[in-house]
Amino acid sequence: LFGLPDQAPHERVLLAADEETGLKAILAVHSTARGPAFGGCRVWSYDNELAALNDALRLSQGMSLKNALANLPFGGGKAVILKPAVIKDRAALFAAFGRAVQSLEGAYITAEDVGTTTADMLGMQATTQFVSGIPRAGAFGGDPSPKTAYGVFVSIERGARLVLGRESLEGVRVALQGLGAVGWHLAEYLHKAGAKLVVADVDAAKVQRAQEQLGAQAVGINEILSADVDVLAPCALGASLNIQSIPTLKAKLIAGAANNQLATAADGDALQARGITYLPDYLVNAGGIISVAREYRGEGEENAVMAEVALIANRVAELLERVKSEGSTPGRVADAWARSLLVKPA
Ligand code: NAI
Repeated sequence: LFGLPDQAPHERVLLAADEETGLKAILAVHSTARGPAFGGCRVWSYDNELAALNDALRLSQGMSLKNALANLPFGGGKAVILKPAVIKDRAALFAAFGRAVQSLEGAYITAEDVGTTTADMLGMQATTQFVSGIPRAGAFGGDPSPKTAYGVFVSIERGARLVLGRESLEGVRVALQGLGAVGWHLAEYLHKAGAKLVVADVDAAKVQRAQEQLGAQAVGINEILSADVDVLAPCALGASLNIQSIPTLKAKLIAGAANNQLATAADGDALQARGITYLPDYLVNAGGIISVAREYRGEGEENAVMAEVALIANRVAELLERVKSEGSTPGRVADAWARSLLVKPA
């Protein structure tokens, strides 16, 4: 439990079960060094409980690094709900999950992730105050995905300039794996900036929409990673950059929203060896947590949030400088940089 490879120990892990609603959840608090652990809740059908635990531990550790690099006064945590075969009453399931969040007395604050919606967060307010990502009439709040997409977009823009020598994204070819909440918004930003899109999603309707509305070229889900493009943006699930996929990649720059894109740290080295620049996921996909963190602190205002998200591009530039001066890989440099920030902010 506490000694998985690549894992720093976690402060607290809560296993929560509720027979009535069928809730089985894992709430992982990785670090509260910078403040309460903040990170979304994922609902997923895992092969087994160990796989769910592994996901919660990896994702919560990633949140510590993400929140530290984004300069947020929050630590890292994440929750996963093991998707029941049948959800009898979704509101009751999330009410039970909210009680589990509440039992940590503020050590963990939750929000949306894959498989959860703004409606889930809204409903959960009945059982916990430690929840964000809530739509509020006439006020800032709600779905973090567009902000995540914007952060990835500015990272691609800056990366294209610094790595590919492209002053704009006009004509730059970008492959998007996944056209979900983040991927779709990212596709729109890229299209507006003149990029040429190659897309894949398991959901054919999303692909068709991108073809019709954004002039995207569609390829199969097994071809997207090796598409002949300048930039690859993984926006589906984790571990897409692995021993099988890396030798087939043609992109020279990788920046996407998916958490835990590298299957192992060694895969980051393999990318570097192939001359591919990988912008670490937790650096570029912090837009959503920046948004829900501001909302939670009552400092949410659209322009201010977008301006804070745009700062991610400066961190991309700083990371690339550090990579040059330290002669290491972006993944390892970002990791050490983030870990050095796992202390209470001044
Ligand atoms: P989503 O569930 O809305 O979208 C994922 C999309 O990927 C879906 O359209 C799905 O059909 C597609 N997909 C699944 N497997 C695929 C495959 N093998 N090939 C191609 N497409 C595939 O999720 P969302 O919110 O867009 O998140 C995407 C990733 O970004 C996740 O890894 C998530 O953890 C991460 N992330 C999301 C944030 C947010 O604000 N929503 C914030 C930070 C990270």
